[in-house]
Amino acid sequence: MSDVLVACLLPAMLLYLGVRFSVFDRDMFRSIWLNSISLFNVTHRSKIPSFASSHGPFSVQTSSTAYSNYSALSLNEVSRMRASYMSVGRTHKRIGYEIGYPKKLDKLSELIHLNSKITDGIASVMTRTYSQELSSSSILWSEIRHTAIDNHVDPASLSRIRESLKHFVRDWSDAGLSERSIIFEPILSVLSTLSTTVRSQKRVLVPGSGLNRLAYDISQLGYDVTACELSAYMNGAFRFLLDPEITKTVNQHEVFPYAHWWSHSRNTTDLFRGIRFPDVIPQLADNDTTGLHLMEGDFLTLDAKTPVASSAVRNTEGYDFVVTLFFIDTSVNIIQTLEQIHRLLKPGGTWVNLGPLLWCSSAQARLELTLEEVLDVVEAVGFSIVGKRDGSDNSVPECLKRRTIPCEYTHDDRAMMRWIYEAEFWVARKT
Ligand SMILES: C[S@@+](CC[C@H](N)C(=O)[O-])C[C@H]1O[C@@H](n2cnc3c(N)ncnc32)[C@H](O)[C@@H]1O
Repeated sequence: MSDVLVACLLPAMLLYLGVRFSVFDRDMFRSIWLNSISLFNVTHRSKIPSFASSHGPFSVQTSSTAYSNYSALSLNEVSRMRASYMSVGRTHKRIGYEIGYPKKLDKLSELIHLNSKITDGIASVMTRTYSQELSSSSILWSEIRHTAIDNHVDPASLSRIRESLKHFVRDWSDAGLSERSIIFEPILSVLSTLSTTVRSQKRVLVPGSGLNRLAYDISQLGYDVTACELSAYMNGAFRFLLDPEITKTVNQHEVFPYAHWWSHSRNTTDLFRGIRFPDVIPQLADNDTTGLHLMEGDFLTLDAKTPVASSAVRNTEGYDFVVTLFFIDTSVNIIQTLEQIHRLLKPGGTWVNLGPLLWCSSAQARLELTLEEVLDVVEAVGFSIVGKRDGSDNSVPECLKRRTIPCEYTHDDRAMMRWIYEAEFWVARKT
């Protein structure tokens, strides 16, 4: 221990004496000191246990642990960034200092602290909402020791949290409206073709509903909607919006969603800008009332004959509509997904799909099909595409025709890069 103290204090003393008689100002000394401390911290990051491997990557246990560790995990990342900066030569460090790089790292730490008001809030809502699941989870001490020794922190959990933070922007902020309207409008147009009087008797299922804005907007058209989402990262974040003790007013919260990725950034103002949310406060419908219902779990386990308990429309024949947005390509087995959509629909029911084919399941996708192959399977499982496969049938309204929709997904509109999906839109009927 005394060796460690000497090893730490000696350079610090030398640095202090050097600074006393050097051209560096006090700010620069403070910044170098912080950077040196962070070098020390980075070697201790293993203290934060990760339970992701033993509890399923999208489980309540894993995600609530991840949310409550967001701040610590992210600050470790800042420590690594400081360590990288500190590893450059003295002259380059000075230039870095002059352009404000260490201050930028300090600012990132501040924003992590501000973001953690949200992530801690989500963790506390999850603790209340899922107390049963959390108390029944048995965390083995041997696992904690193992992860600490292993120096292992699941990097995916941090990126899942950051994905949820970006979804607050895409789904529930004014800033996300332009991205939302491009992908929601084709879907809402199809659902708007039914008269308002019949809508409340129609059941719509939105599998893989994410942060549920689309499902909410469909419910605002007057439909009875069941949003089904598997990931507790998403469900916890959505419950943060639903909780009346946490979310009381429109635009109450502020998130800094772009602060974590420093590539393609024009300036620090853009990088560190805050986005306020929510633009509206969602609410779930009461049992037996038409509106938005949430089913937290795997849509592959849903049964058309057993409607979600809280759903208002007691119809054992299945759903009138299934709406999938950026969803089908998350399937482990796309054929199974398409069969399930078919099974869950009433005879003559309608499936509306919009999305790309980014085969990126957390488990490896068993089949990675082309669009043509997907459409072959769509027909093989018992659907017919409205307006023909190539969208050429002029006897159907434009809004029902198959077409390509260039769009983005949780993008940063001020970044120096764009990722444009040429997403496919189609409407299909269960034959
Ligand atoms: C790419 S995201 C799209 C989310 C949402 N549709 C949107 O556009 O914002 C796909 C979502 O599907 C969810 N998901 C994947 N497989 C699922 C399943 N079998 N049951 C329910 N949700 C699932 C994932 O957790 C993820 O939130």
